[in-house]
Amino acid sequence: MVTATNATTTDLGMPTVVGGPWTREAREYAAADETHQAFVRYFRKAMKIRNWTPWDDLHPAEMAKNGHLLSEDTVTIIQAYLGVEDYVGDYVEDGLHLLNNNRERRNLQLAWGMEELKHAEAWELVLLQSGVRTAEQLREYRDRVGDHKWTMRENHPGLDTPLGVACYAMLQERATYFNYDEMRKRIRQEYGLPEKATPVERQRGAQIGAAGAFKTVATDEIAHHGIFLEIVRIYTRYLPHETLDALLKVFNGFTMPALHILPDASELAAAMQRTLLHTPLKQGRHVNNPALDSMGLKNKRALERAVQEAKMLPPGLGPEHVAISRTGEFVLSMEADPTLANGDPALAEKLPVEEMQAD
Ligand SMILES: [Fe+2]
Ligand SMILES: [Fe+2]
Repeated sequence: MVTATNATTTDLGMPTVVGGPWTREAREYAAADETHQAFVRYFRKAMKIRNWTPWDDLHPAEMAKNGHLLSEDTVTIIQAYLGVEDYVGDYVEDGLHLLNNNRERRNLQLAWGMEELKHAEAWELVLLQSGVRTAEQLREYRDRVGDHKWTMRENHPGLDTPLGVACYAMLQERATYFNYDEMRKRIRQEYGLPEKATPVERQRGAQIGAAGAFKTVATDEIAHHGIFLEIVRIYTRYLPHETLDALLKVFNGFTMPALHILPDASELAAAMQRTLLHTPLKQGRHVNNPALDSMGLKNKRALERAVQEAKMLPPGLGPEHVAISRTGEFVLSMEADPTLANGDPALAEKLPVEEMQAD
């Protein structure tokens, strides 16, 4: 991308593009264009490969058969997941207000919200078919969840800009994937099954009952992590300081959404304490550290350093001149390096989506 003033015209009437200093407008344009391409790849896969419905693709008869094996803590936590997922309308609404004039991000918000709405329906189906909640109890619970409105900015530092929303979603989706995968393992244990899918389950392409529902939803969640990670990486190349600064703010104040306004918040907290399903240590080891690694950063200190160094980058230098080391230092090259402009290919391989979908 170059600024218009750098283009001259040859005898053949074709513009000769000469690299020049990057303007703010050119950075935003290039980042929006790459985000659009990433969205198209994501949407295609969501529609053609990952698509499913709670009413057609889960296994309610197996949930009914094995429901009596689920522990009370497991049921409490699944009900809380239902509550959190039911705030999707508030999450989408808030996001749309913020992303109103950004077509790429608006479309992602809409597609993402469509996928998320299936998750609450899946957890309702699991609780109902497992015979651990009645339809009446679930209706009442969801009505109570709906009595409260969740807003992005309460208790979530950094969630006041489109970049902050991408950074928060990147981290939150990975945490959700981790939670659901842990719950899948827990259910398998309670069902008396091994942690990994059995050959029979592999052959039919679905795990048993509620474990299968958690597998399907967790696959959505890691795909969500993947698309927001791609967006954060794109913007880190074009708007390094703003993006890394937003990421640090989100890292420093990260909490999962809506937990404190759930009608059964205290029962959930007690169940979490007993089961140790998601602890601060696990958040660091299985969510924050892998997310930093996927950004090419060694640890949080490297992110803090990168924020400081990004402030001092010469304003005209674009992504083809700038690389970030794992310790958060910027490495500048005066010669344009086209491989840098496209992002680090080694990092692209760190997109965890395929790997985590495999089992
Ligand atoms: Fe979800
Ligand atoms: Fe998600």
